[in-house]
Amino acid sequence: MNKITEPVITLALSKGRIFDDTVPLLAEVGIQVTESPDTSRKLILPTSDPHLRLLVVRASDVPTYVQYGAADIGIAGKDVLYEHVKEHPGGLYQPIDLDIAKCHLAVAVRKDFDYEAAVKQGARLRVATKYVNVAREHFANKGVYVDIIKLYGSMELAPLVGLADAILDVVSTGSTLRANDLVEVEYVKAVSSRLIVNQASLKTRTQYLQPFIDAFAKASQGNK
Ligand code: ADP
Ligand code: PRP
Ligand code: MG
Repeated sequence: MNKITEPVITLALSKGRIFDDTVPLLAEVGIQVTESPDTSRKLILPTSDPHLRLLVVRASDVPTYVQYGAADIGIAGKDVLYEHVKEHPGGLYQPIDLDIAKCHLAVAVRKDFDYEAAVKQGARLRVATKYVNVAREHFANKGVYVDIIKLYGSMELAPLVGLADAILDVVSTGSTLRANDLVEVEYVKAVSSRLIVNQASLKTRTQYLQPFIDAFAKASQGNK
């Protein structure tokens, strides 16, 4: 005889700071994560709620899983969302700012590089970043000509070895910039992580999804 199973909601998130900041949000609504991606090699993790499972994916892949409906909901930084939506618009709602993984996007240069003078002189700047779309828009708004060099990490290295004049990257405490003799010269935008929802899932599975969305909204009030 076929057993009628309750639908399971799938939440995509990345390990590291987003996972670590999400565990307390889930705990506030009585959901425990029984395995950690730091100790388990499993990519699908159960929770104490049989109706919620977690997918552990790369931070920049979270919007893709949710957009295609492989996950119903996800948690992603606004930095990642901005880039994703520019290239693949549609299919996603971003209903709640969870106020976790807070940082900001900034332009930084070597201490000995006179950024203001270079901008005033109309110099063409080489900018290394993984945020190609944010960078394009930021420098276009300033009327600064840039050549953008796409990198996938360790952006702070680029100005030190002559790959770029400037970087556009996330900054939190500023310690990575300080450790590499870089200085922030422009604040670009504030970043925190948002709950994202597959639009089709929300329509077809509202009754199962809405309680989780409401729970995240309530739990994240404590971070405001
Ligand atoms: P990745 O492997 O893509 O670097 P992270 O876990 O470092 O993944 O970053 C995930 C998200 O956390 C980023 O998209 C950003 O929104 C935020 N974030 C990145 N670095 C920091 C930081 N130093 N402090 C706080 N939040 C950060
Ligand atoms: C992130 C980011 C910066 C750093 C900024 O790196 O890419 O390098 O944090 O934070 P800070 O201002 O507090 O120093 P992360 O720790 O995520 O390392 P990663 O290179 O593995 O992404
Ligand atoms: Mg990182």
